[in-house]
Amino acid sequence: MMLKLEGMSKHFGGVKAVDDVSLTMNEGEIFGLIGPNGSGKSTTINLITGLYAPTSGTVSLEGRDLTALAQHERTALGVARTFQNIRLFGNLSVAENLWVAQNGHKQRRQHFISRWFKAGGLQDTNIDELLRFSRLHSKKDSLASALSFGEMRRLEMARALASNPKVLLLDEPAAGASIEDGQLLGERIRAVRDRGVSILLIEHMMELVMGITDRMAVLNFGRKIAEGTPSDIQSNPDVRAAYLGTKNKNKEPADA
Ligand SMILES: Nc1ncnc2c1ncn2[C@@H]1O[C@H](COP(=O)(O)OP(=O)(O)O)[C@@H](O)[C@H]1O
Ligand SMILES: [Mg+2]
Repeated sequence: MMLKLEGMSKHFGGVKAVDDVSLTMNEGEIFGLIGPNGSGKSTTINLITGLYAPTSGTVSLEGRDLTALAQHERTALGVARTFQNIRLFGNLSVAENLWVAQNGHKQRRQHFISRWFKAGGLQDTNIDELLRFSRLHSKKDSLASALSFGEMRRLEMARALASNPKVLLLDEPAAGASIEDGQLLGERIRAVRDRGVSILLIEHMMELVMGITDRMAVLNFGRKIAEGTPSDIQSNPDVRAAYLGTKNKNKEPADA
């Protein structure tokens, strides 16, 4: 298996944000993670990347226990993510954002600038290829802050891909995007998988999740209430109840 969570919990005071969740993602899989607002989806990603330490449980990548490792160590081993709220360096160019993402986790800061010069600045073929793949090549010298929203979302995913991950964790990549952008996003996610990256997709746009995932799991109040193929999930009465019992499910709180 590619990624495995066993008995993962994260409590914030009395809130069981993630409550004894176990998941297994296979290599090359697009795995969906859905659930109402506040059900623990983003927290699950934060546990996988090491942004949060778990209250209990373990996470492993290709059989290697990651639980005690720092975020940058997990990045180096092949875990990458996007944020629900886009996080880019607005005052750096598009290409510079990718360079930082590609190299930032590898060495400590004092080596960073010398690496930059050794690498010949931005003349990096991987970055070039990534810019083309993300349809951002014509914008490579633009400041990230000057991009359109759709371009920022594309750069956010390119930034995650720049570290050459084995697993990509996408936290609502279509949020705020138009329907058309959503469809293109689906194609790009498939293309990323075809490059050999396994994908965990958190998404509210049901058509997108149902259309491209191989399997999915559903969280409610931090617990996994269902797991299966999209059609299993669509016909699952517990899942319907969880969604029907939730108001304003399209309104997301500001979180990471
Ligand atoms: N850093 C935090 N501190 C306190 N509570 C948090 C924190 N992060 C998330 N939570 C709480 O944990 C629960 C799950 O949140 P989250 O994982 O963001 O849900 P989702 O991504 O499914 O909408 C919510 O009740 C949320 O308020
Ligand atoms: Mg969230």
